[in-house]
Amino acid sequence: MDIEFVAATTAIPPKTALARIAFDGDTQQGALAQAVAASRFTGAKGQTLDVLAPQGETAARLVLVGAGKTAAFDVIAAEQAAATAYNAVKASGLETLRIELSGDADMAAHAALGLRLASYRFDKYRTTEKTDKKPSIGKAQIVAADPDAALAAFAPLSAIADGISFTRDLVSEPPNVLYPAEFARRVKALESLGLEVEILGEPEMMQLGMGSLLAVGQGSIRESQLAVIKWYGAADKSAQPIAFVGKGVCFDTGGISIKPADSMEDMKWDMGGAGTVAGLMHALAGRKAKVNVIGILGLVENMPDGNAYRPGDVLTSMSGQTIEVINTDAEGRLVLADALWYCQDRFKPKFMVDLATLTGAIIVALGNDYAGCYANDEDLAANLLAAAKAEDEGLWRMPLPDAYNKQIESMIADMKNTGTRAGGSITAALFLQKYVNGVPWAHLDIAGTAWKKPSSVATIPDGAVGFGVRLLSRMLQDKYEG
Ligand code: BES
Ligand code: MN
Ligand code: ZN
Repeated sequence: MDIEFVAATTAIPPKTALARIAFDGDTQQGALAQAVAASRFTGAKGQTLDVLAPQGETAARLVLVGAGKTAAFDVIAAEQAAATAYNAVKASGLETLRIELSGDADMAAHAALGLRLASYRFDKYRTTEKTDKKPSIGKAQIVAADPDAALAAFAPLSAIADGISFTRDLVSEPPNVLYPAEFARRVKALESLGLEVEILGEPEMMQLGMGSLLAVGQGSIRESQLAVIKWYGAADKSAQPIAFVGKGVCFDTGGISIKPADSMEDMKWDMGGAGTVAGLMHALAGRKAKVNVIGILGLVENMPDGNAYRPGDVLTSMSGQTIEVINTDAEGRLVLADALWYCQDRFKPKFMVDLATLTGAIIVALGNDYAGCYANDEDLAANLLAAAKAEDEGLWRMPLPDAYNKQIESMIADMKNTGTRAGGSITAALFLQKYVNGVPWAHLDIAGTAWKKPSSVATIPDGAVGFGVRLLSRMLQDKYEG
């Protein structure tokens, strides 16, 4: 999507759809008033009214976009309104979408962000799609009182959109294409943005004693990888970094505890946590964030095989703690156990946040609009929740009750990798907590939020969401970029 900010006096190009924001109770003039009267359009949030060849307008089409109450119209509402306008006309055959909205440069910039997010499409493998089925709108004009100020305000948001698109691309890729080494290559390519990237292979991880992560990948012909991404954006390059750790299971068959065939294809996005961390690092480099950040991705493929790890196996993790495997499908926590330990051991971060499509149980608990937030630190939890609210990403605090540790006690090792069905997302989080070594830490279980199909949110096309990039970038910006 090619976006420009223009003055109201800029001529409307041919083949343009004009979107105008209408609030609850707004009245229209002339032909538009007639069109409104002939419909159920009231200006309520999310409504659209498409008017063809409107009398007295230069545009080929005019779409009224309901934005609800005027007083509640904030930057998020501006994003949604712009995205709703795009969705209404994207397949109209017209080529340009022009958006008229009142408000300052920031409002216009967020409208542009809404367009970037709504127009995301993963179509690289579609070779026979007819042109008349593809989106026709390729250009946008956003009318702003001060176009230069709007363009300047859009720069950091454009970096966010780039980061989210990067995450969405990774999450959308099929598992035959995006296996651990390919994921690592794509992350390595981010060095062109100014990030530093180190890739560890199986020999290096063996040396480090990562028996937990390596066990998960041992049934795969694809080599497991650990990617370490560094962004030193603070004025003081030696300032203690903040760390993000992502579960990157490029495909999760369940292993020997194999999953049922139904929807198994969804497990290509079991690398969504790693995808978000990679997209976050992309965004931070893009907006030159003034903070030191480490991103660590545990990249594996969980396959059944003659060499696969088994239920009953006892693994020795890098921390020295041993794990009795009860279910090879509870593999994400095994990957994160070594990634988290390595992270705190090597980088001594201020705090760590891990992201993982960890449990089906979090979907049972919270559905698809809220990720679960577990934390051993109140300030960190509060900062995450505040950032999530500001960025309109659903996040809900979950408890870490010590009593539930009983469920993962083992007779033969220091812990088991699963508990019972009761509180399955909680016992997974308690398992992770044993690998943070007391460092302030939060765990976001994004199993319900990484993928949305069908999506009812205008800024999220069906499929990969890119959940978490916005909230994490926001938290850093608000709290750690002095
Ligand atoms: N990747 C899955 C969790 C998941 C399920 C993510 C559905 C997205 C959608 C994870 O590795 C897993 O299989 N978890 C098991 C744990 C169980 C064996 C204790 C689960 O949730 O069923
Ligand atoms: Mn699994
Ligand atoms: Zn998994």
